[in-house]
Formats: sequence, structure tokens, C-alpha cells
Amino acid sequence: MADQLTRDEAQDLVLVEHPARRRGPDGAPLEPPEWLAGVALVTLNRPRALNALSFALLLRLAEAVEALDADPSCGAIVITGAGTRAFAAGADVVELAAQTAESLAASPGFRGWDRVAAVATPTIAAVRGYALGGGAELALACDMLVAADDATFGQPEINLGIIPGAGGTQRLARAIGKARAMELVLTGRRVSAAEADRLGFVTRVMPASETLGAALDLAAAVAAQPAEAVRAAVAAVRAAFESPLADGIRVERDLFRALFGTPDQAEGMRAFVERREPHWRARGAIAIPPDGAS
Ligand code: COA
Repeated sequence: MADQLTRDEAQDLVLVEHPARRRGPDGAPLEPPEWLAGVALVTLNRPRALNALSFALLLRLAEAVEALDADPSCGAIVITGAGTRAFAAGADVVELAAQTAESLAASPGFRGWDRVAAVATPTIAAVRGYALGGGAELALACDMLVAADDATFGQPEINLGIIPGAGGTQRLARAIGKARAMELVLTGRRVSAAEADRLGFVTRVMPASETLGAALDLAAAVAAQPAEAVRAAVAAVRAAFESPLADGIRVERDLFRALFGTPDQAEGMRAFVERREPHWRARGAIAIPPDGAS
């Protein structure tokens, strides 16, 4: 289980560049390098799996951002995905398929979601390609979101027989309103960068190769502001957006866990692994308690 990987095995799942280097219009670091004071770049590094968020990766991500958060020389954190195809294509479905409600409740990796969202330093997601499921939730959990014009967002969990479990139902509803969030969560429909811009959950959309550079420049502008005021501003804006988010997250977490062990969850994830369409149970057979208790 990825939750049990040793620290060494997990190390390169997340790369940290601090201070980060300024990028040119092609997205490559400038030569000679120009260091961006106060800016850290954190890269999700499983490009062959489209940066799918395994528990080991989540743990490493939580450790990385917490270490940066504790470092007074870090004033803003940019989170991006390795490669050009994905920010992150969701939680690792293969790993998730083996979970139960109990194993999720006990998983330190799963708790990584809350640890990442809790850092006091402002975070900026730089999103190219797919940001699906947990990838979209991670991007939405960041304080700002710079999207490439090739970015694709979506909450496809319903197609796997589950629901978003890392804040997606709560943050999306707050960001774009209930009716629009409901459609995306209930259908799994994907949203282009242009639509995400119209819906209002991204800070700006950039040509793909300029996305990371723009996110780093935005981070540098924030890191140049007075540190205490920045932290206060972040806390204040988050409070306006989030309270009582925690209550909603608890409800969502209970419901998410309750779905593990249901036939549709097993079928949805088995079908993904076997690369076929899932066969859902007939309506009348479903009995998830309304309070989410398993
Ligand atoms: N978990 C685990 N592995 C994943 C993954 C995920 N969420 N998303 C992609 N991968 C893996 C694929 O299994 C594949 O691995 P392989 O090369 O060893 O077979 C690799 O990443 C490339 O993905 P692939 O599906 O071949 O690319 P594609 O271009 O045909 O499709 C997606 C891209 C994003 C549309 C597709 O990968 C997908 O639907 N992923 C799952 C998205 C999802 O449901 N996320 C929510 C999870 S809760």
C-alpha cells in the first residue's frame, strides 16, 4: 500500500524548488537563473500516472508544504504538476479501489488533504491539462488558481460510484454556486479553462507554456508584500469563504467513506482498472443512510 512507502521511496513524488527560478515564455527556467525571493515551487511528480494523488504523494505533499510554511523565508507556494498533460488526474483510483470506510478513516495519507489546506502561507495552483477529481479539489483548495488554456477541470467521482471526498462538494458550491456545482458533481461533466474562467473559479487563464511562469510571477508579487499582512489577509479571505466549511467537510467525509464497500464503488473502480463501462445496480437496491453513517 502506498500509505506504507518509506520516506525515501516517497521522496521524489513531490519536488520542491525554493527559492523558485523565474520561467521564460517557453516555460523553461531562465538561463542564467533568476531566483524569485520568497517563492517556492512544489511539483506533483508522477507524470506517467498523470500525477494521480496516491496516499504516499499526499503525505509527501503535506510534509513539503508544512516545511515551507514553517520557513520564514517562504512567502508564497506554487503547486503544479510535472509534465504538460495533467496537474493531477485525481486520487489514485487503483489504490482507492482497495479501500474500505475504515481504512480511509485510519489513513494518514488521506489526512494529507486537510494538512495541505491548513498551511498559512498563500498557495497558488498552476494547472495545465487535467485537474480531475482530487486534482480539481487540490487546485480549488489553493488560494489562487492560474489555469492554462489547455486545462480541463472535473469531478468525475460519480462515474466511479463515489463522490468528491477532499472538499470538492463544499468548495465548488461556494466558488460557483449550488446549481452549477450540483450539475458538475452529479454528471461528472468536464469544464474547459474558458468555462472555468466564466464560472469564476480561476484567477486567470494563460497560454499553456506561460502558465507556470505567470503563477510564479504572481507568487513573487505576493511574497514581496509585508509578511504579517499577507498571512492576515489570507486568513481573513479564507474565513469569509470557508466558515462553516469544516462542518460541510465532515459531512462530505462521512458520506464519502460510507460509499466504500458499496457494490457500485467496487464496480466503478473495477471497471476503470479493466477499462470498460461500469454496470450500476438497479435503483431500488440502494440504501445509503441519509446521515452518511456507515
Ligand atoms: N488513478 C490512477 N491512475 C491513473 C489515474 C488515476 N486517477 N488517472 C490516470 N491514471 C493512469 C492510467 O491508468 C494510465 O496508466 P497506464 O499507462 O499504466 O495504463 C496513465 O495514468 C495514463 O492515463 P490514460 O487513461 O491512459 O490516459 P488518457 O489520455 O487515455 O485519459 C484521463 C486521461 C485523465 C481522461 C483518464 O486517465 C482518466 O479518466 N483518469 C481518471 C480520472 C478520475 O476518475 N479521477 C477521479 C478519481 S477519484
